[in-house]
Amino acid sequence: MSDILCLYYSRTGKTREVMQDMAQALDAELVEITDGIDRSGALGFFMCGIDAMRRGTHKTQPYKTERELEDYKLVVLGTPIWAGRCSSVMRGFLKRHGLELRNVAYVLTRGSEHRDEDIFDQMDLYTTRPRLAGASIRVDSVGYHFWRDQFLNELKNLCNDLPALYAMDDVAVPAEPVKKSRRRRRRRRTEDDNAG
Ligand SMILES: Cc1cc2nc3c(=O)[nH]c(=O)nc-3n(C[C@H](O)[C@H](O)[C@H](O)COP(=O)(O)O)c2cc1C
Repeated sequence: MSDILCLYYSRTGKTREVMQDMAQALDAELVEITDGIDRSGALGFFMCGIDAMRRGTHKTQPYKTERELEDYKLVVLGTPIWAGRCSSVMRGFLKRHGLELRNVAYVLTRGSEHRDEDIFDQMDLYTTRPRLAGASIRVDSVGYHFWRDQFLNELKNLCNDLPALYAMDDVAVPAEPVKKSRRRRRRRRTEDDNAG
């Protein structure tokens, strides 16, 4: 049973391809999520754009993981970029489960030259801690394998360091301040508060 989870949404298979590669290289559990909405064809494409811009979300369909989300030492979240934002399916997952994740890393897949790395910060608004790492990857680009492998190496190094992070949680940080800072984080405004 792996303590790394690669969880993703993919509309047309590109994010799936990257996340399958990542999960295999990291020996991680791989889980696909969906919100059950048919987003195929031109109408589906249009709906994706509208949902992303409005920051609208639907409930994530039931999915199965071997552990509770908070019991993974690292959760790698994969999503396509939609209209300069993360997909509304991943946003829906983060809204409902972001605070259960202990350590996160993000994989964005995109179609254009523009890396849109500000999306990492948008996603961080839903999690207890900011990301440990993030990559924005164009699956069809010539440099795909280079960028994928570079990010994989970064994740592997991180995973080696993670037991030390666990130790920091348990020993170095006094209990009371941790509780206060968690409460503050839960009350933080998110993009949705601004969406009206
Ligand atoms: C509605 C919509 C909006 C998109 N907006 C962007 C964008 O702003 N920037 C970009 O680089 N790619 C954009 N794309 C392209 C996808 O992010 C890209 O093709 C991605 O790799 C698809 O992943 P998937 O096959 O896993 O669904 C958009 C795609 C859709 C459907």
